[in-house]
Amino acid sequence: MKQLIEPFSEILPKALNDLHVEAQFHQKAHGCGAYSFTDGAGLFALCQVAKPKRILELGCGYGYTCVSMAWGLPDVHIDTIDADIEHVKLACENIEKLEMAKQIKVHCGYFDDVIEKLNKNYDLVFFDGYEPSLALLKKLTKKLNDNGLLVCANVALASRENQKNIREMLDRKPLSISEVSLEKGATLVSIKHIS
Ligand SMILES: C[S@@+](CC[C@H](N)C(=O)[O-])C[C@H]1O[C@@H](n2cnc3c(N)ncnc32)[C@H](O)[C@@H]1O
Repeated sequence: MKQLIEPFSEILPKALNDLHVEAQFHQKAHGCGAYSFTDGAGLFALCQVAKPKRILELGCGYGYTCVSMAWGLPDVHIDTIDADIEHVKLACENIEKLEMAKQIKVHCGYFDDVIEKLNKNYDLVFFDGYEPSLALLKKLTKKLNDNGLLVCANVALASRENQKNIREMLDRKPLSISEVSLEKGATLVSIKHIS
């Protein structure tokens, strides 16, 4: 059992560390692809510094990353999307338990369908829904405010050719890849500069 869980982060509040452990147990039991993000501490720290007011998350899974981004930021609003009904139910329960339901809205559906209905812009977009595609990343760029952050996980799941294209896209105007990265560089952070 001990091998199943990652070491606790010292910077994360206990409630978030606990949720990360539960999310890993859920993934094993459910046999699903909802691997809990391995750098919740980095994501938490990024949000504490950037203080985004509006966040869009793609892939809420068990709810660990959305509550990590919202923790300690009472003014933040998060729209998070997942197509797996079981994940949506569990995420909603976890968000409720941590009394964050007013801040975090979970949308059940496929990314492309839901983002079309969200007529808002965001200060931070976090993609964590399996393999990223160029087409979706382009749509997400349009949803970002000036100086907004596009945080893209799972780049390594793409083919070598796609990884190269994704990196180029994330570092082509209006985006530029930041020196800040998460998961030791496996998750890329880009900044959008319109002017
Ligand atoms: C890696 S998990 C997310 C983990 C979560 N961010 C965390 O660490 O707390 C990916 C999630 O994205 C969802 N997902 C993958 N592709 C999707 C799509 N095209 N539309 C909606 N949900 C999708 C899956 O159901 C899964 O729950």
